[in-house]
Amino acid sequence: MENKDKKKIFIGAAWPYANNSLHLGHVSALIGSDILARYFRKSGHDVLFVSGSDVHGTPIVVSSEKENIAPDKIAQKYHKEFIETLIGGLNFSYDNYTTTATENHKKIVQEIFLKLYEQGDIYKKTQDLPYCKKCKRFLPDRYIEGTCPKCKFKDARGDQCDECSTLLDPKDLIDPRCKTCGSKPDFRQSEHFFLKLSAYQDQIKNWVSKSHGWRTNALGFTNKLIKEGIHDRAITRDTKWGIPIPLPGYDEKSIYVWFEAVCGYFSASQGWAKDNNQPDKWRDFWQNENSLHYYVHGKDNIPFHTIIWPTILLSYGGLHLPDRIISSEYLTLEKKQFSKSRHWAVWLPEFLQKFDADTLRYFLIANGPETSDADFSWKDFQQRTNKELIGNFTNFIHRTAHLISSNFPDGVKYPEKLDEQSNGLIELAQRSFEKVGTSIEKGDFREGIRLVFGLAEEGNRYLATKEPWKTIKTDPREAQESLAVCGQIIHCLGILINPFLPQTGLNIFKLFRKDYNLHVWEYEEISLFRFEKPELLFNRIEDAEIIEEENKLGKN
Ligand code: MF3
Ligand code: ZN
Repeated sequence: MENKDKKKIFIGAAWPYANNSLHLGHVSALIGSDILARYFRKSGHDVLFVSGSDVHGTPIVVSSEKENIAPDKIAQKYHKEFIETLIGGLNFSYDNYTTTATENHKKIVQEIFLKLYEQGDIYKKTQDLPYCKKCKRFLPDRYIEGTCPKCKFKDARGDQCDECSTLLDPKDLIDPRCKTCGSKPDFRQSEHFFLKLSAYQDQIKNWVSKSHGWRTNALGFTNKLIKEGIHDRAITRDTKWGIPIPLPGYDEKSIYVWFEAVCGYFSASQGWAKDNNQPDKWRDFWQNENSLHYYVHGKDNIPFHTIIWPTILLSYGGLHLPDRIISSEYLTLEKKQFSKSRHWAVWLPEFLQKFDADTLRYFLIANGPETSDADFSWKDFQQRTNKELIGNFTNFIHRTAHLISSNFPDGVKYPEKLDEQSNGLIELAQRSFEKVGTSIEKGDFREGIRLVFGLAEEGNRYLATKEPWKTIKTDPREAQESLAVCGQIIHCLGILINPFLPQTGLNIFKLFRKDYNLHVWEYEEISLFRFEKPELLFNRIEDAEIIEEENKLGKN
């Protein structure tokens, strides 16, 4: 990539609540963020990829009360686990993975809050809010459940319905009940701060109408909200677990978790700049019209990223708005929704103890819930690993490396002139860089990895017609040449697969008896290929392993 095209790419992945282990559904929504980050870095751009653990709000307190552990302890425990599993396990290449518990975050959120308040975009108003007499407290967000007025889902929460993603006010709930004790709440008055979303409706509408590269679900949902009319929403809560309101007299309240969590994208960028001793570096990404900002999350996060966060940014002023919204549909498990209470889940820490991280990355990319819900089943996981990852992709690499290392220890030379078939394969490889890159840039990760695997498949087909294991005896020159063409394809595959399956990309490059530059997204012709005796890149997944996992489902 030429320097003049060098862009500043910001990538913000959703901040998981630090109240429970992550399951495969979370990973399926987040994986795209790491593909984008790795691809853009290799294409020569400057990338800032941030996220963190979301430690505030009722999700954390509800778990804390259930497990009888202090909220900050719960948050610390899961934050540590997220680092181990997302970064240590799955190789997510964040530039900054932080938490909303830092002083830096608190300071920046309070500063944003005050600025918006002073401008009149945050104002005070008294509300009628549900109060549980038995539990003696107000019931914000996840403290209350009831029937969703929109889709009639029975267990909607005070701020959002999990089924249809509609943003709710607790008083909209039909048959509301206290989540803790089940009683029917009263309504009492409480003073809160509201964000004047309505004042930005037109600007948001205009911005959305000019957007491109959003996933269809994000665009559809946002346009629906705009059409219905965007209302002001309370951005403080009657709970002490959260960032304090930076004004006197509100000690019993705090800032709503969603208002501050989205500000984390900005605070984490500043934190990153400070940690790198270039405290102004965040400006390259945020105060720059030409930067490109990607947001990656699950579909229940859409309105917070397409309405609330952009409104905060518009009101604050001078900061770059989101460009690409990559929101996923849901992943189901054996065709049913993941559920902690029904023990219907595959937890990431356990998964990573048994299986290779790249097998999971492969499955969740190739079968990602990009445009409609997708399903994880153990059988399907086994099949895709054994048939596609091993049977097609690594099989090509392994066969080629094996044939070269055992027959041509001094290597095979790339031919001076290619026959038609070889030329066709090489041209496909050359075109793949742009095609795969375009798919990634569009957030079509499934398509991207399909193209990479398609190249390996063509490689297998090429081997099958060239039959170098035969020509080694009859026409060694021809055997060498076709194997060198395959070597060249492996070189390309190592680079192309890297954003998707980073460890596999590295392992492929370790097969070569030479150090190549894996870090540039472009075709590079190599003159001589020498290979180590190849080790297997993956182990097959046996029936017994799958049966064991199936038996565990619903039981732990
Ligand atoms: N914690 C939220 C969730 O798990 C996501 C927050 S994304 C944020 O749904 F960046 F806005 F914080
Ligand atoms: Zn109660």
